[in-house]
Amino acid sequence: MNGDQGILDAAGPAAERIADLWWAHFWPGLAVFVVVVVLLLVGLYRRHRWPADRAHEARASLWIGVGGIVVPAVILLVVLVFTVRSMAQHSASSRDAEERGLSIRVVGYQWWWDITYQDPQPSRRVRTANEINIPVGRPIMLLLESGDVNHSFWVPRLQGKLDLIPGQTNTLWLEAREPGVYRGQCAEYCGEQHAHMGLVVVAQPPEEFDRWYEGQLGTAAEPTDSAALLGQAVFMRSGCAVCHAVRGTDAMASVAPDLTHLASRQTLGAGTIPNTRGYLGGWIANPQAIKPGNRMPAMPMDGPDLQALLAYLETLR
Ligand code: CUA
Repeated sequence: MNGDQGILDAAGPAAERIADLWWAHFWPGLAVFVVVVVLLLVGLYRRHRWPADRAHEARASLWIGVGGIVVPAVILLVVLVFTVRSMAQHSASSRDAEERGLSIRVVGYQWWWDITYQDPQPSRRVRTANEINIPVGRPIMLLLESGDVNHSFWVPRLQGKLDLIPGQTNTLWLEAREPGVYRGQCAEYCGEQHAHMGLVVVAQPPEEFDRWYEGQLGTAAEPTDSAALLGQAVFMRSGCAVCHAVRGTDAMASVAPDLTHLASRQTLGAGTIPNTRGYLGGWIANPQAIKPGNRMPAMPMDGPDLQALLAYLETLR
């Protein structure tokens, strides 16, 4: 679901730099391996044919001195230069992103991602979960924080990983060259559902991103058909509003994902299941069966109520 996570399949400048560095380590490593294996085989083959005299010992010392000290030192130095250069470019790009970027606050929780687009005007801030839309070709600044334990933000095709640490804000910039959906994953063990702490970055052409942003700024549309109206009432009385917000209604809690535009998202449970009516129904009825240990309790309700609730949630585009 939602694309692969291959670090060598880079789709942004930061990931390209990391992939280049990976190859800059891989090729010398491969060459050294081949040379060492060849020398080992030659040594095995000739071991009985070299008389143990003084001249042989001198030659052996030379081999050890050159092959064991000089050559590795040169190779390590070259690799170090590549690494330091990449690190310097990385921090330069980070400063650049800070100056002209859009910034997005990402807070990690067990086991989901709370996403808030920063804007000087509070009314222009967008809050969503587990999905980050970004415009292509523009560096984005991420402000990474944690609401509980250590997590790690990693979208391999766009950028290296960085930890989210309680009580601290770490910054990471992100840029995608092409529109696409890039899957990410929490990369630091954070409890039993660590593996189900996925996310997606949706890179869009700038005009499309702007349209998306304006759409997300809006409050939830008031339901019009009778099923959705009933569903809204079920939502308010069944306890959903104790944890979730639907902007424009009385539901304003913020301890769980904001559901104002839930239906516009691709997955549920932080990348665990697709966002379809069937999965959503199963999730509401028994989220613990799908993602054991997560904070959402089962919401027992009868069939008609659940159907109405689903009809309402589907209107939250
Ligand atoms: Cu969050 Cu692993």
